[in-house]
Amino acid sequence: MYLGVDYYPEHWPKEMLEQDLNGIKDLGANIIRIGEFAWHLMESEEGEYDFTFFDEVIAKAKERGLSVMFGTPTATFPAWLAKKHPSILSEDENGQKRVFGGRRQYCFNSKIYREYSAKITRKLVEHYQNEEAIVAWQIDNEFGHEGSDMCYCNQCHQGFQEFLARKYDGSIAKLNETYGTIFWGQTYNDFSEIPMPTKTITTHNPSLELDWARFRSFSVNSYAHEQTEIVKELKGAHQQVTTNVSGGFFDKWFDHEENVKPMDFVSYDNYPVWGGLAEPITPAAIALNHDFNRGLLDKNFWIVEELMGAQGHNVIGYLPRPNQAAMWSYQAFAHGCTDLLYFRWRGMTKGAEQFCYGVVDHDNHYGRKYKEVQSVFETIRPYEEVLQSPIESDVALLYDYDNIWSWRFQTQTESYDFMNEALRLYTPFYNLNVNIDVVPTTRDFSKYKVLLVPTLQIIDEELGERLKEFVSSGGTVYFSYRTGIKDKNNNIHFQKTLPGFAAEISGITIHEIESLSSGESVRIKGEGKYEGRTGECTTWRDIITPQAAKTLYRYDDPFYPEAAVTKNVYGKGSVYYLGAGIGEEIIQDFAEETVEDHVIPYQVSEKGVEVYSRKLNGANYHFLMNHTETVKAFKDITLQPYESKIVKAED
Ligand code: GAL
Repeated sequence: MYLGVDYYPEHWPKEMLEQDLNGIKDLGANIIRIGEFAWHLMESEEGEYDFTFFDEVIAKAKERGLSVMFGTPTATFPAWLAKKHPSILSEDENGQKRVFGGRRQYCFNSKIYREYSAKITRKLVEHYQNEEAIVAWQIDNEFGHEGSDMCYCNQCHQGFQEFLARKYDGSIAKLNETYGTIFWGQTYNDFSEIPMPTKTITTHNPSLELDWARFRSFSVNSYAHEQTEIVKELKGAHQQVTTNVSGGFFDKWFDHEENVKPMDFVSYDNYPVWGGLAEPITPAAIALNHDFNRGLLDKNFWIVEELMGAQGHNVIGYLPRPNQAAMWSYQAFAHGCTDLLYFRWRGMTKGAEQFCYGVVDHDNHYGRKYKEVQSVFETIRPYEEVLQSPIESDVALLYDYDNIWSWRFQTQTESYDFMNEALRLYTPFYNLNVNIDVVPTTRDFSKYKVLLVPTLQIIDEELGERLKEFVSSGGTVYFSYRTGIKDKNNNIHFQKTLPGFAAEISGITIHEIESLSSGESVRIKGEGKYEGRTGECTTWRDIITPQAAKTLYRYDDPFYPEAAVTKNVYGKGSVYYLGAGIGEEIIQDFAEETVEDHVIPYQVSEKGVEVYSRKLNGANYHFLMNHTETVKAFKDITLQPYESKIVKAED
């Protein structure tokens, strides 16, 4: 089990190296992560490779029994390269080149950048392939982060046209037909006429936009895979390969499952609070992030950057309360993290991240945070085997990047956000402390009992059939509004009653819809067993006509008093259709019913107390996390503010 810190020895006087490594060792760490931004240090002039600095760091780390994760340095290229080849720099939507100075400003479609990246990565891995201390390679750093997955330069434009020519078998007629370019007279005679969707008057063709997103994904992933191949070809047999996934993954322009496919394991950078945020994201949102990362390769994962101090570039916000960052680490371990490194060993006095506080701060005092890390490392080690154990879930939340991108281009309602919609369905089950997987729609559904399917507007016949099969054989599906309106080309289904390929299993039809602007809400009222209950919906509403389904809630509206929420029994299973942005309390009732019906293990806990269950050799382990600033209890166990612990459970 690897526990450690992200260390940037190049930021400090050489004389500090031994003292730092001793401090890291005394933390109880056994690994450091280094190198990912140090290209210039390894190749200060073109072709002059020099790894002596890191040779010494690694030798000294080894003396202390510390292993190493080494990052390939392509996220920050040297200034000489940008000066010599300005074409490597990416461009924004206005055609403005991103100048040298920040990070990640390279264009994924620059052949020149690919060549230089290949050369430095080759040299680096060749140099260290036999280095026993290096146990893992990290490719680049946080692909696509900070808007770096979008570029509108000429190389991308040409690449896009070639991508389309391949996709449509060289037939421009096929593309015209698919896109419906007859609309507004946009018919193309040749692939070379096709624009990138930069600024125009009103909006671009939705099919073209979705293809552009797929092209962005192809650009990032083909670069990532080229780099991964090089590392795999040259690395020592004892070394593994990974890349670190950043937060905000649903807002990125590349398919993450595809990205990590050739990796040995997934790494995640866990920052429950960052920049100017006044408070952390919700405990459920942090949990969903972990479940997403576990779902990428369907196995447990590492965290290579775990927050300890306050973070921010120009604006800094919330300071984690004592033990809160430790509790977040325990939450990560609960959800499948097996190995963890804190960002960063010490805050840097110079450069863009002066305000990214570490385990140690600029005064070099080993204080409260140092002791907190020490205690996490000491207390988690005995549970190594529990952390390694695979996680089984009966519930899965499904996502599809095509669908997310299609929403991103046409949000249809100003308050739409995919993560919010995912959390709307995820949170009620999270509140019941049920294990949940977060996986793409392409996965096998048969191992699950419940599928949570937020705003999946793209459903083709094949996916519709798989969902039907799942429900027929006993599964429960939760759909939310706008389900099944589109095909894979981002066009609306013709002559199909909504919700399209989900209509039959949902037992409903939808003929009218309304987008609710920010601040707008509609009252809903319960029926049957929910008689007397009321609530509000926001964001969107489908006006539902039940066919076989039962109405659970309807709109309290004289003009459209139709159903807002329905439940249908289909085959051996059932489908909830939540036609609007319904509040969490209402969905909570359904979630409770569902876990009871399917006999899914769950735990009742106070609000703010998370209980995550893991199994090992027939024993049950409960990870307990108090996410609040007040004393709480789980059964007869008291939890101090932000306390976390593992208990071997009787059940
Ligand atoms: C991460 C990034 C690190 C550092 C950190 C600051 O997103 O990988 O290099 O910038 O944020 O919090």
